[in-house]
Amino acid sequence: MPGIPRSQLRHEPDLCRVKTEIGTDLSRAEGLLRAGEIVAVPTETVYGLAANAFDPDAVLKIFLAKQRPAFDPLIVHVHGAEQAWGVADAQPLDAIVRDQAGALMRHFWPGPLTLVLPKGRRVPDLVTSGLDTVALRMPAHPMAQELLRHLEFPLAAPSANPFGYVSPTTARHVKDQLEGKVPYILDGGPCAVGVESTIIGWDAESRGWVLYRPGGTPVEAVEAVIGRVPKARKTVLPVSPGTLESHYAPRKPVLIGAVPELMREHAGKRIGVISLRTDHGATVNHVLSPKGDLGEAARNLFAALRALDAGDVELILAEEFPPEGLGAAINDRLGRAAAKRG
Ligand code: TXA
Ligand code: MG
Repeated sequence: MPGIPRSQLRHEPDLCRVKTEIGTDLSRAEGLLRAGEIVAVPTETVYGLAANAFDPDAVLKIFLAKQRPAFDPLIVHVHGAEQAWGVADAQPLDAIVRDQAGALMRHFWPGPLTLVLPKGRRVPDLVTSGLDTVALRMPAHPMAQELLRHLEFPLAAPSANPFGYVSPTTARHVKDQLEGKVPYILDGGPCAVGVESTIIGWDAESRGWVLYRPGGTPVEAVEAVIGRVPKARKTVLPVSPGTLESHYAPRKPVLIGAVPELMREHAGKRIGVISLRTDHGATVNHVLSPKGDLGEAARNLFAALRALDAGDVELILAEEFPPEGLGAAINDRLGRAAAKRG
């Protein structure tokens, strides 16, 4: 339907609509998940859309609700290292690699680090898009942890947004976009980290650890534990769609660079600016952290992108952030928000 913003299309009649509720009732969430339903769950990074990772029918509902292509594998959420090794298969790994994986779990779990390891037999192909590896993480949000501890199975959960759009960092963000598609949204407040987990994996071919996606755990911190972690090489088939060029993208055009110059170039337009600490005096300004804290900036990034996308600016400009710590993840997400969709 040309000319109609996608946000207005969500109220179209749809035969599969369910009533969407927001609440803090963990036993209700557990009941739904045990019954093979999907539930939106808070994590410290972004909200996830969760289902029983061992039940392909339940997992399929995630793909349908998100309109996610089946080539995009999901992250499996666990309540600890022991459960993780029941989902992954340690057998193909050398003892050194197994130790390194264990050390990463000890150092960074619970927290925003996802590990890609050989897949165990119980994981359905739909979860991993047919790959022989599985992505695993232990979330740090107390609600997600309690849920995982109570359940008899791990939870497959991608971010709770329509495929390709900005990830949700509040329960309201989830409702705005998945209303009618998910019966229950567990409200755990605004996410403390605000960008998705860092994803690293053991790459059997190069016999080394590789970085699939920068995120909430600084790569420098990971490298302090296991040594250098190079970026995964791009392949024809996206091994990790987190590495797809256009992703995490608002509908409006996004440009990154020297904001004052870009503002001069686009004078006369209604402009929204995302910056670290400087107010550039645009039509709308989102200063993500007046004190220059990159953690605070990451926490505020997606809400700023959403607000600008929903408001009446025509163009979104963003500074390039300092590349260290969480700055790498911020630049990565802004870069993909800016990438032209083909
Ligand atoms: O913080 C997060 O990671 C959030 C919360 C909900 O945990 N989840 C999240 O999921 O960002 P999602 O689906 O939006 O991104 C998961 C990424 C995808 O880019 C996917 O391709 C990658 O993880 N991934 C999953 N399994 C993989 C595998 N076996 N090999 C490489 N990448 C994988
Ligand atoms: Mg996502």
